[in-house]
Amino acid sequence: MLPHDIDTAEEGLDPQDWDAMRALGHKMLDDLFDQWRGVRDRPIWQPIPDDVKARLHVPLPHEPQSPESIYEDYLRDVLQYPMGNTHPRFWGWVIGTGTPLGVLAEMLAAGLNPNMGGGEHAAAYVESQVIEWCKEMLGYAPDASGLLVSGGSMANLVGLTVARNAMAGYNIRAEGVGASAHKMTVYTSREVHSSVQRGVEMLGLGSDALRYIPVNEKLQIVVEALEEALAQDKAAGMKPICIVGNAGTVNTGAFDDLNALADICARENIWFHVDGAFGALAALAPELRPLVDGMTRADSIAFDMHKWMYMPYEIGCTLVRDRKRHYDAFTLTPDYLTHAVRGAAAGEIWFSDYGIQLSRGFRALKAWMSIKEHGIDKYGRMIRQNVEQAQYLADLVDAAPELERMAPVSLNIVCFRYRVDGMSDEALNALNEELLIRIHEHAVAVPSYTRLNGRYAIRVAISNQRSRREDFDLFVRETLRLGRALAAEN
Ligand SMILES: Cc1ncc(COP(=O)(O)O)c(C=O)c1O
Repeated sequence: MLPHDIDTAEEGLDPQDWDAMRALGHKMLDDLFDQWRGVRDRPIWQPIPDDVKARLHVPLPHEPQSPESIYEDYLRDVLQYPMGNTHPRFWGWVIGTGTPLGVLAEMLAAGLNPNMGGGEHAAAYVESQVIEWCKEMLGYAPDASGLLVSGGSMANLVGLTVARNAMAGYNIRAEGVGASAHKMTVYTSREVHSSVQRGVEMLGLGSDALRYIPVNEKLQIVVEALEEALAQDKAAGMKPICIVGNAGTVNTGAFDDLNALADICARENIWFHVDGAFGALAALAPELRPLVDGMTRADSIAFDMHKWMYMPYEIGCTLVRDRKRHYDAFTLTPDYLTHAVRGAAAGEIWFSDYGIQLSRGFRALKAWMSIKEHGIDKYGRMIRQNVEQAQYLADLVDAAPELERMAPVSLNIVCFRYRVDGMSDEALNALNEELLIRIHEHAVAVPSYTRLNGRYAIRVAISNQRSRREDFDLFVRETLRLGRALAAEN
């Protein structure tokens, strides 16, 4: 019996006025389509005014607000100040554009709202299907296991975890890294993405255990230097467990000699992990496939679909050749999650056995729909188009005496700087840093930056399905104009 003073009126969170919510939903979709179709004409980026920031910093709401007015808040305070990556001239970091169907798929995924940790439901088969396709499109081992994750960082962490556990030589899950008789070491090029160091740190190996090997003029790992480091470490009693090869480095898109790395791993019985966050997808374009030669010999591969497959955030993938080792690295089944043989708690694969997350979203749906929508050959053509655009931009840069290219263009990344005769590297660093900010503030484009041998470089990374050649013409024209103005000020 309930005490008399308890209010038994029950509530839910569905709309009180379904028709109004439906109308709002339709308006949101209509607005989205208008935004997509007009994206080229909107400012790519603009500074966020203080009053907007103030409205995004208010106390916790206790009282309800109508969905219509919340949407107005979004239109006024969020939509107007985007990162810019749906725009054709966004080439910062390595960030994808998204596609309309990908976005709609996200909405449907949220509507179905499955928990992708496990169970017997169709969404789990969709994820399995996407993983099968991922293996096929990269030409990877058909028996491999896989997991969709939030992105490249997580994909690397999952791969490195399996590597550590598989190569430790004892039950590291039970005994921990401290029980290792020898310090475990990992090898990669100096150009590797920071997520690999973060992964090594999180696995308790310590960043000192990550050996950064020098690179050659093409920014590929120097294999002889790697061999030397391995020999020295072994002589000093270390236990090399993993080599991380790069298929497309973040700075310049360089590819290591993956076959050479695979040979060393086979000879030394070391795990071979490839970070192919975006570069792995060069496998989709027949002309670019030679770049990833050797990648399919990896024990694990990490890559993303929110970068060079242009899907909305977040979606990455880890593939692991040895399914059992992958499973053994993560599986942990408390009583309440015991997998049943029939009913809703059955299911062939529980993805929670293959990664860190128990509760997981249905990110597979956007991949399933997008790959069906375009067919994998179209992705190959889009990737090749971006690579050709990088070459086109490199040619524009090379043809402009005031611009200096800073690195070879191995793939889709062009690094360059504005130069002024007689100016020191230090002064040029400052000038180019300011130039990049002005390029952003004048809403010309959004490239990002890096440092190559201590020199500041404006970095254009093209993983944008909306860019066209005229965007690069405009970009170079405006960069020269802003650069000249800055040089005159200096
Ligand atoms: C080569 C490489 N690896 C890993 C990552 C990390 O991927 P994410 O940002 O999806 O975590 C990136 C991101 O740019 C990358 O370029």
